[in-house]
Amino acid sequence: MKPPRPLPRIARRRSRLHGYGVFALEPITKNRRIIDYAGELVLNSECEAREEQYLGDGCIWVFRINRRWSRDGAVGGNIARFINHACRPNCWFEIAGTTIWIRAGRRIEPGEELTFDYCTIGERTIPCRCRPGCPNFL
Ligand SMILES: C[S@@+](CC[C@H](N)C(=O)[O-])C[C@H]1O[C@@H](n2cnc3c(N)ncnc32)[C@H](O)[C@@H]1O
Ligand SMILES: [Zn+2]
Repeated sequence: MKPPRPLPRIARRRSRLHGYGVFALEPITKNRRIIDYAGELVLNSECEAREEQYLGDGCIWVFRINRRWSRDGAVGGNIARFINHACRPNCWFEIAGTTIWIRAGRRIEPGEELTFDYCTIGERTIPCRCRPGCPNFL
């Protein structure tokens, strides 16, 4: 059986968009799996308080998987939690059971910052800085 292809090399660095971001260290082909968004699996009914606390600090760490489950990247997360949002992102996410795969939406060159669309729901209060003049809120 063919061994699974290793995941591409990526690194956390300061970002123009916000705080830290995650950057490609090698070319990444379209649709390649890059990393899974790790974090504690939490019932949606139990994560509202955490989300509010994180949002109080201006941060979104909880990734909604489906109507029942979320992953809290702030607890047991990996560097995927530092991937910033963009309205025209270069990555997309794939939900496979309770695993969240971040995948390349197009070919990504070394040095490019990885972004995906957070698809935030509810009250959006954080002005998006994905590009000059972006009118959206996260
Ligand atoms: C999951 S964290 C991403 C890592 C973050 N940059 C950091 O250094 O902690 C999500 C937070 O990053 C910020 N962020 C991500 N994308 C952004 C964007 N396009 N514009 C403004 N802030 C953004 C927001 O504060 C958001 O709550
Ligand atoms: Zn934007």
